[in-house]
Order: sequence, then C-alpha cells, then structure tokens
Amino acid sequence: MSSIATTPSKVQTVRPTRSFQGSVTLPGDKSISHRYAMLAGLAEGTTRLSNFSTGADPHSSLACMAALGATVDKSNKDYIAVTGVSGHFSASATPLDCGNSGSTMRMLAGLIAPHPHTYTMIGDHSLTLRPMERIRKPLSQMGAKIDLLDGHAPITIQGTPLKAIDFDTPIPSAQVKTAVLFAGLQAEGTTSLSESVRTRDHSEHALKAFGATLHRIGDKLQIPGGQKLRSIDATVPGDLSSAAFFLCAALLFPDSNLVLDSIGMNPTRSALLDVIVALGGAIKVLNVEEHHGEMIGTIQVNRAPGGLKGIDINGALSAQLIDELPVLAAIAPYTRDGIRIRDAKELRVKESDRIALVVNNLRAMGAEVTEHEDGMDIAGNQQLHGAAIDSGTDHRIAMAFSIAALRATGETEIHGAEAAAISFPEFFIHLDALSQR
Ligand code: S3P
Repeated sequence: MSSIATTPSKVQTVRPTRSFQGSVTLPGDKSISHRYAMLAGLAEGTTRLSNFSTGADPHSSLACMAALGATVDKSNKDYIAVTGVSGHFSASATPLDCGNSGSTMRMLAGLIAPHPHTYTMIGDHSLTLRPMERIRKPLSQMGAKIDLLDGHAPITIQGTPLKAIDFDTPIPSAQVKTAVLFAGLQAEGTTSLSESVRTRDHSEHALKAFGATLHRIGDKLQIPGGQKLRSIDATVPGDLSSAAFFLCAALLFPDSNLVLDSIGMNPTRSALLDVIVALGGAIKVLNVEEHHGEMIGTIQVNRAPGGLKGIDINGALSAQLIDELPVLAAIAPYTRDGIRIRDAKELRVKESDRIALVVNNLRAMGAEVTEHEDGMDIAGNQQLHGAAIDSGTDHRIAMAFSIAALRATGETEIHGAEAAAISFPEFFIHLDALSQR
C-alpha cells in the first residue's frame, strides 16, 4: 500500500559518480531523539538535548510534548531545552499531530494513556494507513481506553489509571515494547515484557538515564510502576540508519573512503556493520565512548579488494536491519551474488509498502527482482540505468534509490525527494559533497 503524495512532489536529479569520499558528522539518531523528547516532556526539570535529530519526525514528538504542557525551547543553537510537566500532562487544546511518525503515535499512546484527559492522535495519510491494533491490545489489557478507526488512526484515548501486565510481544517491534514500558512506568504494579526477537533497546537506556528503575531478568524486562523521572543533559549519537545510505554508497566504488564521526553504535542497531563486512566492506571503528548507556564511535569504511559478494538476510537479522533493508536492496544488483531478503513482512506496513516500492523502483532501473510476500530476491551482477523513481513519499525509499543512482548509467530522477526530510533533511547536501565526479 503505497501512500499518496499530499504535498507538491519535488524532483531531485542524481547523477552517477566515480567515487565516494569524505568525512561528515550526522544529525542525532531519530529513535533516541523521540525517546529523549518524550521522557523529557514527562520528567521534572529542564532537559538539554544536543545534536537532537533534525528530521521532521522527532520534531513531531517535541510538538506533541508542547501540546501536552511541556515547554520546548529551540532558541539556543547548541541544544533544545525541554522543561517537563513533572509527571502530569495537561489536556491538549488540539489533536496531537504525529505527522508521518509511527514512533510518535505508538510510543506516545503508552505515555499519555494514564493521564486523566481525553486525547485524539492524528497523522498524515501514510500514518493513517499504519496498523495501530498492535498497541491498542496490550494497553487495553492494562486498562487503557483506546478507540481506533478500523485498526488505524485517528486514535482516541480516554485517560485512566493503568495496572501492570505480563506481556509477550507477538511481533518484533521496539515501538510496541516502548508503548508498554512507558505505560508500565506509570501503572500500578510491576509490568513484565518479553520479546521473541530482541529489538532496539534505546527505551531501556533512556528510561534509566532519566532515573527510572528497570530490570532484565533472563528474557524478561521488568518495570515497576509509579516512578518519577528527572531531567538530564544529553548529546544524541549520530543516526546509524541515516549513515547507512552513505556506508552503502562507499561500498560501490573501489577507492572510496568515508569517515563518519560520533555515530550511535548500540549493538541492537549495528547489525548493518556486520552485513557490510560480510558483503566485502572494510570497517574500522575508532574512539568508542558510552553516553547514557548508548555506544558512540567513529566509523571508517572502504571497500575491500575483490568487490562485493552477496548475502541472505532472514530470521532475526531481518528485524534488526528493518530500516536498512531498502538501501541494502538498492545496492544488491551491484553485488556479485545478489541479496535475498525474507522474514521482512513488516516492510509492507512502514511509511509505505517498502517491498512493493523497492521492487518497482529496481525494475524501473532495469533490475531483475523476484517479489515475495515477506521479502525479495535481487540477482547480482546487474548494471542499472537511470530512471524516474517514485519515493511513495517515503524518506528511506527516496534516499535508498539516490544511492542506487550513483552507479547507474545516466541520470535518475527521484520524485518525492522532499520525503528525505522526515529523518535526514541534509541528505542531498551531504550526498553531493561526498560524491566525487
Ligand atoms: C523504531 C522502531 C522500528 C523502526 C522505526 C523506528 C523505534 O519500528 O522501523 O523506524 O524508534 O522504535 P517497529 O518498532 O515498528 O519495528
């Protein structure tokens, strides 16, 4: 189900390049920025967040916090200051507008469900197509009163006190896990949660950073209810999922050399680095540090001699790489043995149907691809040609095909290129600076 553009569509032309070289510092991680914004909004005191994501999505989370009574001050160039509501969100005069952001809608639902007001959450066309039953179910078990429209937004929440539950997540989703943890933090009793596949654990680190108690006992996460949060000062690590586009671009040229500073390297997010090595990339990680439980390092990538091999991506790896699969698929034709992706059905319910859009756009560039319900097979050793690409208003599709375009013959037009701003507004500026023509 690809979403329909509701804003004028910008066309960006991407020309082939000879090499990919340089050094950049990327804006803050989208996932971590959302969590810091929301927990800062609930906490007591003023949180200062440096290197906050410049993407539109985390700014939707900040706007929701302001609507809920927090003070969000963006006037300082070095940080965003969020003064929280000390545990008591106010009613909102307007619906909470989550824009294009599934993370905002799902995680915020858990955060606001115990507050004694009636809230409506809305989003853009794409967000209104995305499944929300996955959060309604566990939150309702906790006693939340949540109404959806046929499983989708708009969401109405009538705030009410919550009780702890013992929950096994049926789908690997960090957003669902976070909705339950955020609700559990404020519920009566201790909430337990187990995951079939371990998803990104930024919420766990963020909750601890803001002073919450949280335990992992074997496979189970446990969060006692009735907890209060206090403000922090934090620097958001650079976004590895944004870095992924440039890391993959560097793999396409024998003499590339790319250095990315201060990138988040949380082990639950860094499967891409293993895949790059398996494909034939040479990675060096330098200056590793830890901030608020998150690992940060400098990454240098080159292509190893001998070119790119291929890889099969399935099982837990597909869930761990979910945001990076579009760009890996986009460079797959340039590998020797191709890339086969399975167990990635979740791609069909992201900002667009990412399986359908990747397959259609690869075919538009001349590639041979087989579509599967839960993935795709992309043959290796294929030369792509420039084409008109449909981003489907999906940021990761716009950026992934800009990378495929770097080694195609002829020019590629990315239609709906403005979507990149959802997570990475500076993408095309950096792409141009790093491309050696
Ligand atoms: C995210 C989790 C993932 C990911 C999304 C961000 C998060 O979604 O695709 O871009 O910040 O928790 P799911 O939790 O739905 O898999």
